[in-house]
Amino acid sequence: MTINNLVNKRILLGVTGGIAAYKAADLVRRLQDQGADVRVVMTRAATEFITPLTMQALSGHPTHIDMLDAETESVMGHIELARWSDLILIAPASADFIARFCGGHGDDLLTTICLAAETNIAIAPAMNQAMWSNPQTQMNIAQLERSEVLIMGPAEGIQACGETGQGRLLDVDQIVQRTISIFPSEKLTGKKVVITAGPTRESIDPVRFISNHSSGKQGYALAEAAVEAGADVVVISGPTNLDPVDRARTINTVSADDMYAAVMSEIADCDVFIGVAAVADFKPVMQSEQKLKKTQDSNTMTIELIENPDIIASVAALSKRPFCVGFAAETEHLLGHARLKLQRKKLDLIVANNVADSSIGFNSDNNRITLVWNDGESDLPVMSKRNIAAKIVNHVSKQLDAQKV
Ligand code: CTP
Repeated sequence: MTINNLVNKRILLGVTGGIAAYKAADLVRRLQDQGADVRVVMTRAATEFITPLTMQALSGHPTHIDMLDAETESVMGHIELARWSDLILIAPASADFIARFCGGHGDDLLTTICLAAETNIAIAPAMNQAMWSNPQTQMNIAQLERSEVLIMGPAEGIQACGETGQGRLLDVDQIVQRTISIFPSEKLTGKKVVITAGPTRESIDPVRFISNHSSGKQGYALAEAAVEAGADVVVISGPTNLDPVDRARTINTVSADDMYAAVMSEIADCDVFIGVAAVADFKPVMQSEQKLKKTQDSNTMTIELIENPDIIASVAALSKRPFCVGFAAETEHLLGHARLKLQRKKLDLIVANNVADSSIGFNSDNNRITLVWNDGESDLPVMSKRNIAAKIVNHVSKQLDAQKV
């Protein structure tokens, strides 16, 4: 299986004017082959060498050229483009662009985006060898390096002008490899991760339901961490007030039965299943079609409940099963109950947390957990749900690696 090293990565490719601009077309394709989403910004000079239409057709997005172009700005404005990208890669970067970038100019779209960017910036210079070795250019490059801009190349060889020396655009394959190495190692690249999150609602009648206090925050944080780790993530969510996780696919569900059906429809090619949802254990046997009314003859009411399907146990019982991670929310005997759940549900890992402590858990941004697996456990201090998610993802990827050996 080919590993797509840039899955979920957003790369803004800046193309400046120079004969090597035609190579940017190939670069778009190679970055996409690695799974990256690529958008293109061209300087006016670049459009003399390669057409914006070519770049648009290859990238699948409008090519951005001018600051005040109402059409492309309405698709995505310059600040949004800067915020959108995980990396701004300028290839080829001309001597003129490098000088303007270095001087902090904002006189065209590309320099303005670079000024507004809080993300990584890399440049692949390409120019005549004399322009490259010119002391002014070298001073500019040294200044960019001090500002943590990554310089890719240039390479040495015969130049378009017939001269030989340093100044050729680095080979496209090498630019792609250098781009991959900018991102931290992707722990779950190529893996499909399905996560249940939030509460379920079990309806009693058209206006009432049984539910619980789960906010969905921990499940959504895990989905973000899995996306960061390069996974293809599906969030199967009960009703929450949270925004969908960027770059994950969300399937909204209401009841445990809905959630069960959605999970089963996504499980065949799933590598890791994480059950974070607080699934209601029981649902009313009968859901009244009309609103239940008080009666004169009794001041009590009985609703008969029946057990819901155990989603994670059903997943773990499949013959071709993913790596299964469960959560154990307990109010007492935390580790004992967690270990029993691990065995009873045949899980690979369980995340135990004490929901009796109201300063952490259900609605809080923090949590305190212990990771429990068959032959070990690890107790973590109180930390944000986001950091906990990253720890869980790390642990899962380590256990997956260990299974391969
Ligand atoms: N779970 C599930 N389907 C259910 C109940 C729970 O998938 N019907 C999953 C949860 O998402 C969690 C794990 O099972 O990952 C443990 O949930 P919990 O409610 O703590 O366990 P229960 O089996 O309901 O046990 P109990 O209520 O007795 O503590």
